[in-house]
Amino acid sequence: MTVKKIAILTSGGDAPGMNACIRAVTLAAASDNIEVIGFRHGYNGLLKSEWVPLTTQTVHNLLQRGGTLLHSARCEKFKHPEQIRLAAQVLENHELDGLVVVGGNGSFMGALALQEVWDKPVVGIPGTIDNDVAGTDYTVGYHTAIQTAVESLDKVRDTADAFERIFVVDVMGREAGFIALNSAIGAGADHVLLPETFSTAEDELAKILDKLEKRRNNKANASHIIVITENLWPGGLNDLATSLQSKTGVDVRILSLGHVQRGGSPDWHDRVLATKLGTYAVQLIREDKKGVMSGIQHRYPAAIPLDPSKVERKALNDYSLLIQNKITLIH
Ligand code: F6P
Repeated sequence: MTVKKIAILTSGGDAPGMNACIRAVTLAAASDNIEVIGFRHGYNGLLKSEWVPLTTQTVHNLLQRGGTLLHSARCEKFKHPEQIRLAAQVLENHELDGLVVVGGNGSFMGALALQEVWDKPVVGIPGTIDNDVAGTDYTVGYHTAIQTAVESLDKVRDTADAFERIFVVDVMGREAGFIALNSAIGAGADHVLLPETFSTAEDELAKILDKLEKRRNNKANASHIIVITENLWPGGLNDLATSLQSKTGVDVRILSLGHVQRGGSPDWHDRVLATKLGTYAVQLIREDKKGVMSGIQHRYPAAIPLDPSKVERKALNDYSLLIQNKITLIH
């Protein structure tokens, strides 16, 4: 199929490396003489036809910049069929031959709905710090978010050791434990609480206390760092901290890392991933592949169907779970 003009938008929670995706799509398209435009503010900008031209000059020096040049947004109204048809009409008005959507599961549901009413390819690039998109090994932004969390946890360890305190640190991930599990392993945290394995507050508290008791008997390290996925503890972090402090008599402090994990320059891994997936997304449009994601499988870009059953929660890596449990039992 002859492709003359394509568009890209970034949608949902921003992630480090979204700019690198915009750059890769623009440069890959330019090398095939394809014109590129960007819709601003996610699907909201598409509906309003709020766009900017993207050229090799626009994306110069963009690879390493955090955030997204096109801005991002969540768009509730994109669930309504008449809005989806309106979006398809905007794409037609611009005489576009394809659309690239960088985002997570919510954004891909929108991409699928759009694909149903538009006959040109809509291709997704998984861009979210949560890494919860099934089918792709990694999402753009995930590695940088973990690096940010690990650096913060290292600093927390210094002050926690100095005062021999317990720290409860919550990290992002929505309903997925990828960031929590891997930042806990990367920073040598003593305990991790994940949505995928959480039972009840009572059980989880008992497990933490048991571990603390074993470590005290072993005269192990002075501080204790617990990493937890956001919004997981039923009564909130204060409730967990109060219970821990009253049961152990040890000072407990809490910290929410929050949106700091979404910012900053993408690390090398996210830059390379974004560049591979952005370039491949343009190829998929040229091949007229509809309703697919440009994802990564075993280090190679792959066209992964965006069918609704695949836009689902992705399973945690069992081996990571195993080693986290094993190495934190006693030390
Ligand atoms: O999906 C990315 C993410 O950062 C989640 O980890 C988090 O739960 C959510 O977005 C926060 O969304 P908002 O920025 O709208 O508060």
